[in-house]
Amino acid sequence: MDLKETWKDVDAYFNDELKVSDEVTNSILKKNEEAGLPPIEVAATHGKMLFLLAKMSGAGSILEIGTHGGYSTVWLARALPKDGLMATLEVSDQHADIAEDNIRNAGFEDQVTVIRGPALESLPKLLERGYPRFDFIFIDANKDGYPEYLEEALNVSTTGTVIVADNVVRQGRVIDPDSGEKSVPHIRKFIDMLSENDEIETTVIQTVGRKGYDGFLLGRVK
Ligand code: DHB
Ligand code: MG
Repeated sequence: MDLKETWKDVDAYFNDELKVSDEVTNSILKKNEEAGLPPIEVAATHGKMLFLLAKMSGAGSILEIGTHGGYSTVWLARALPKDGLMATLEVSDQHADIAEDNIRNAGFEDQVTVIRGPALESLPKLLERGYPRFDFIFIDANKDGYPEYLEEALNVSTTGTVIVADNVVRQGRVIDPDSGEKSVPHIRKFIDMLSENDEIETTVIQTVGRKGYDGFLLGRVK
């Protein structure tokens, strides 16, 4: 049996049985694909996981670094209470345009703001723009930025802030500094920074499924 096919089939099984996907989330994937965005959204099962983590943590404010077409954005926004708010940072105007459409169609335009421009320019201005320290932060942007995104994320965190980062395993290449994959040195630096930081408790969950083999970093600020 081809293990990768099994991962996909099992992902589809749980997606169907647990009714993970719905019309709104499926329509976002379709729209992103039609617009030619790279198909690098989180799997539906993992979008639902992000929703559950944010909901379980009781997050009233969510920050996303890397909007893409707004797929994970909408999953996370669904976890917000009525008076909750979310900021999502996106460098590409094309991606931001599509994401804003998807966010509007999902009914979250009053709670979610797409902030355009390089995240490293937006992040230091969030508090002065009136945002509170965030309860939940999802990092899923250019991997060479992860170390600096972590630093900036910690600057807008407080005790209890949950930090989740996508793509920290990269088909296992994370343990091979010479893998040739460009993201690996940056991910390893990101992990080193966490290793040396006593102010955040962390673990990693490796994932398989329709998006292959990767993993999420999970952390909580002490
Ligand atoms: C890539 C980025 C992602 O965030 C992801 O989940 C998968 C792949 C990429 O840039 O290749
Ligand atoms: Mg990702």
